[in-house]
Amino acid sequence: MSETTRQSPGGTSPNPFDLSGKVAVVFGACGGIGGTVAAGLSEHGASLVLADLEAPAARELAASLSTPPRQAVGVGCDVRMADSVVQVFKDADAAFGRVDVVVNLAFASVLMPVAEMPDAVFQRTLDVCLGGAFRISRAAAQVMIPQGSGGSVIQFSSIAGFAAMGRGTGAYAMAKGGLNALIRETAVEWASHGIRVNGIAPCQTRTAPLEALFKNPKHGAPGELETAMIARIPLGRLAEPQDMVGACVFLAGDASSMVTGHVLPVDGGFLAK
Ligand SMILES: NC(=O)c1ccc[n+]([C@@H]2O[C@H](COP(=O)([O-])OP(=O)(O)OC[C@H]3O[C@@H](n4cnc5c(N)ncnc54)[C@H](O)[C@@H]3O)[C@@H](O)[C@H]2O)c1
Repeated sequence: MSETTRQSPGGTSPNPFDLSGKVAVVFGACGGIGGTVAAGLSEHGASLVLADLEAPAARELAASLSTPPRQAVGVGCDVRMADSVVQVFKDADAAFGRVDVVVNLAFASVLMPVAEMPDAVFQRTLDVCLGGAFRISRAAAQVMIPQGSGGSVIQFSSIAGFAAMGRGTGAYAMAKGGLNALIRETAVEWASHGIRVNGIAPCQTRTAPLEALFKNPKHGAPGELETAMIARIPLGRLAEPQDMVGACVFLAGDASSMVTGHVLPVDGGFLAK
C-alpha cells in the first residue's frame, strides 16, 4: 500500500470527529433515519450529496442543510438501477470534485411470512436492500479507488441480520445477512486502498413507518408490539434516529481509522442477550 492511501492513526486533525473538508454521499437520505444522519454529518463539517428515490424530498432536505459554510446537493436515485447510482457519483464529482464518505440507508421491504412470500416480494426486498448496497459499493469503489485518498463506506444493516425477529421479516433478514457479508468482503478487498467499510446495525428505531406499524391492528392492540419490542432491548427503550448519528460520525472519519469490516450494533444491548 502506498503512503497516500494508508490512513494515519487517528488522522491528522486535533479533533478526529471533525469531518470538515470531507464529501459524504448519502443514499436513502430522506427516510426516518437518513435525514437525521445527514444533518449530523453536516453539523460535523461534511459537504453532502443526498440521494433518494424521492427526488423532491432530497432537494428539499439539501436546501435545509445548505447554510454556509455547509453545502448540500439533493438528487433523485433509484438504487435498483446501476446507471442511476453511478449518476449520483457523477453529480458528486460535478458539485465537489471528490467523495470521501458513502452512507447507504436505502430501504424497502414488506412484512410477510416466508411460507406465503411470492417471488416478487422477495426479489424487491433483496433488490433494494442488498442489490442496492452492491451497486452503491461498486460505484463507490470505481470513484474512490482511483482517487487514491482512502475513505469510508457505511452500510446500514440491522439486528435482523444477526437474530430472527419472527414477524414476517424473512426477506429483510436475508438481505441484511447478505449485506453483512458484503461489508466484510469489500472491507478486505479495499483495505489496500485505505477504504474502510463498516456497518451499523440498529434495533427498532422510532421512525414514521415504525409508528405506522404500531398503529396497525394486524400487530395487536395499541401499544402491544411496541411493548414487546422494548422488552427485548436491555436499555429499555427503542432507538431514536439521533442515536445513529454518533456511530455514523465515528465510522465516517479519522476517529475510526483502524476500524474496518465491522458491523456496530446500535441496539441498546439487543444482540448481547
Ligand atoms: N427504522 C428502524 O427501525 C430500523 C431498524 C434497523 C435497521 N434499520 C435500517 O436503517 C436504514 C434506514 O431505515 P429508515 O427507518 O430510515 O427507513 P425509511 O423507510 O424511513 O427510509 C428509507 C429511505 O430509502 C428510500 N428508498 C426506498 N427505495 C429506494 C430506492 N429504490 N432507491 C433509493 N432510495 C430508496 C426511501 O425513499 C426512504 O427515504 C435501513 O437500511 C433500515 O434497514 C432501520
